[in-house]
Amino acid sequence: MTAAELPGTRADEILPEPGEDPLAAMVAWLAVDPLDPPLGVLATVDPEGTPRCRHLLISGVSAEGPTFHTDSRSQKVEDLAANPRATLVVLSDDRTRQLTMTGPAAPTDSDEQLRTYRDRTPYLKLLAWTNSTATAALPPDGRRQVWAEAVSRRGPAPQEPPDTWTGYRLRPDTLTFWKGDADAPSHRRRFHLRDGGWLAEELPG
Ligand SMILES: Cc1cc2nc3c(=O)[nH]c(=O)nc-3n(C[C@H](O)[C@H](O)[C@H](O)COP(=O)(O)O)c2cc1C
Repeated sequence: MTAAELPGTRADEILPEPGEDPLAAMVAWLAVDPLDPPLGVLATVDPEGTPRCRHLLISGVSAEGPTFHTDSRSQKVEDLAANPRATLVVLSDDRTRQLTMTGPAAPTDSDEQLRTYRDRTPYLKLLAWTNSTATAALPPDGRRQVWAEAVSRRGPAPQEPPDTWTGYRLRPDTLTFWKGDADAPSHRRRFHLRDGGWLAEELPG
C-alpha cells in the first residue's frame, strides 16, 4: 500500500496517536515500491554551517529508518561525515500528508547497498557509473559519448555497482506527521525520542 492509498481523510484518522509507535506509522506512510520509490528532500549542514537540500529517492524503509543511495564523492556524503544529523522530508503524491524525520544518518552495509543497486532501473545503474565531476565538465556531446562508452563497455544495465555507490540509513529520533484536512485546520503531531520512549506534541499545521 502506498501512502496515497492509506484509508481515511481526516487528520485524526491518519496521524499516529500519542502512545502509538511512530516508527510503525512511518513505515506505513513511506511504503516503498522499488519500481516507483517515493521522493524526499534531504537536508544536511555543510562543514561551514550552510544548510544544503536536495531531492533524492527513498530506496527503502524499515522500523529502523528510511534509506537513500548516492555517490560517495557527493556533497551530502561530505556533510554527513562532518555532521551525521540530517532531516528527510517526504510529501505524499496527493499533497495531503508530509512526514519529516530527523536523526543521525550512517552508511548501510555492503549487502544492503548491493541489493538496492540491483533494484535500480537500467538508467539509474548507468547513471551511478557515469555521474562524475569529470563527466559534468564535458560539453553535452562529450557527456553522451561517456554514456555510450559505458553502455558498450558494461552493457545497458551493469549488474555490479561502481566503487562510488553508497547508501545511508537515517535513524529518526524526531518525526513530525503533517496532515491536511478539508474541513479543519491542517495539523501536525511531533514525536520526540526521550529516555527510550516517544513523547508526542501537538502543533499547528
Ligand atoms: C527526481 C530526482 C531524484 C533524485 N534521486 C537521487 C538519488 O536517489 N540519489 C542521489 O544521490 N541523487 C539524486 N538526485 C540528485 C540530487 O538532487 C542531487 O543533485 C545530487 O545527489 C547531488 O547532491 P549533493 O551535491 O548535494 O550531494 C535526484 C534528483 C532528482 C531531481
